[in-house]
Amino acid sequence: MIKKGIILAGGTGSRMSPITKAINKQLLPLYDKPLFFYPLSVLMLAKIKDILIIVNKGQVEQFRKILPDGKNLGIKITYAEQEKPKGLPDAFIVGEKFIGEDSVALILGDNFFFGQSLTKKLIESTKLSKGAKIFLYPVKNPSLYGVASTNSKKKIINIVEKPKKTKSNLAITGLYFFDNKVIKFSKSLRTSKRKEIEIVDLLNKYKNEKQLSAEIIGRGGAWLDTGSIKDFNNTSNFVAAIEDRQGLKIGCIEEIAFNNEWIKKKDVIKAIKFYGNCEYSKYLNSIIN
Ligand code: DAU
Repeated sequence: MIKKGIILAGGTGSRMSPITKAINKQLLPLYDKPLFFYPLSVLMLAKIKDILIIVNKGQVEQFRKILPDGKNLGIKITYAEQEKPKGLPDAFIVGEKFIGEDSVALILGDNFFFGQSLTKKLIESTKLSKGAKIFLYPVKNPSLYGVASTNSKKKIINIVEKPKKTKSNLAITGLYFFDNKVIKFSKSLRTSKRKEIEIVDLLNKYKNEKQLSAEIIGRGGAWLDTGSIKDFNNTSNFVAAIEDRQGLKIGCIEEIAFNNEWIKKKDVIKAIKFYGNCEYSKYLNSIIN
């Protein structure tokens, strides 16, 4: 059972410069809330309550202003700093103490997921006892991502990072579930040409041991990009369209905590006071009344 999760929320956000020169990308507004609320919601929907958020050097205080320690959500939030963006598997080296002897989920701080059966799939994935599990999503432009090729039995046969040419349209999303071997494997990785340790190399270690499984998020689900200004804006508009239509919020962390019965009405009232007079508070008020 996976009970711990890491949100990797550092990085330079170089594709969104100059905006990201002074602020961590994951604190930018994806429509009506900071970007990192969305991956945090994903872990909370998976019923993961022990969460490490990894940020860049000197940024912990900025994050703490919004989310001090998780008590307000009935969860435990720990922060750690990554010295510099050394690659995604560095999350397991920075997070070694946090992980301890356990298995762990990783979600990238800039990843956005939405869809009907997502929560069910997430909870199912936390049952992983051995190996690793990834989520794949069909995209038009796979060469922007890690790509997995599968055989007719949906078994992964090949994994590559940002291939120039590929026959597969299945991108590897930024949500991963790993057993405890992830620490040992991450430490054994060599730096690639782009001077990072690569998540695909880590996944290939699991694949070579026949311990890598994959779940496909079908076309009814949404895994959207926030990498470039245009993608960020499109994802923001997606949230706006759905929220405006349904009158329900995507990625409202207090709502998820309340529905999971991790917090009570009085805690939601505290959150309303904390956020002040804004649309988000009005929404929180609506869920307790
Ligand atoms: O989003 C899914 C993709 O994420 C996967 O398909 C790729 O296989 C994977 O390599 C990754 O590709 P990106 O090019 O999108 O990774 P990027 O360097 O942009 O980093 C993703 C997030 O992780 C971003 O929020 C910054 C953060 N990050 C990244 C690195 C390398 C860190 O916090 N620390 C790091 O060292």
